[in-house]
Amino acid sequence: MDKKIENPIFWQDFLRICHKNLIQAYEILFQSIDLISLISIPAPSQTSTEIYGRKLLYQDHEGEVLLMTWQEDRFCAPHDHEASQGCVFFLQGHFLERQWLWQEQTLRLGPSQEISSPTSVPVEAGRIHDMKAVNQGVSLHVYFPPICKMKVFDVKNQMTYLVGQKAGAWLPVSEENILKGESWGLVG
Ligand SMILES: [Fe+2]
Repeated sequence: MDKKIENPIFWQDFLRICHKNLIQAYEILFQSIDLISLISIPAPSQTSTEIYGRKLLYQDHEGEVLLMTWQEDRFCAPHDHEASQGCVFFLQGHFLERQWLWQEQTLRLGPSQEISSPTSVPVEAGRIHDMKAVNQGVSLHVYFPPICKMKVFDVKNQMTYLVGQKAGAWLPVSEENILKGESWGLVG
């Protein structure tokens, strides 16, 4: 095991570097740590509704670093990241990311891109997207500030759910994770 990746100070520094210089952060991640050790960190077990497992590596008031392990060929729900922005570093696997765009009070599929590890993709505040791993995959997510709530969109039933920090980018199955739910007929 690479000792650096067990050290919160390493991730605190990494978070700060991500904020200033994504190229430098990319080099640190892919050239100076043992990637196999990082990919092998166990993520919490997943229920059938959870598309990915999450392991919080570091969080403070400025941001957070999360490791995500993805199930095979299952899209997460379209979602935003509220006011947060940051970067996703793809560590292992091939992914498909799709944008969703509001048009006439409904969400429609926008452009999509295939993503192959190793690479990184910036996360912009306000962008709505979903993603899947073609096979299994592992990604590292850096967000500023930490995502304490986000919108998840139920395209089939035309509903928007505001969900809390414990929820992920999948449709909430329990009321306790829903801060607010609204029909698209009422909001846009
Ligand atoms: Fe996302």
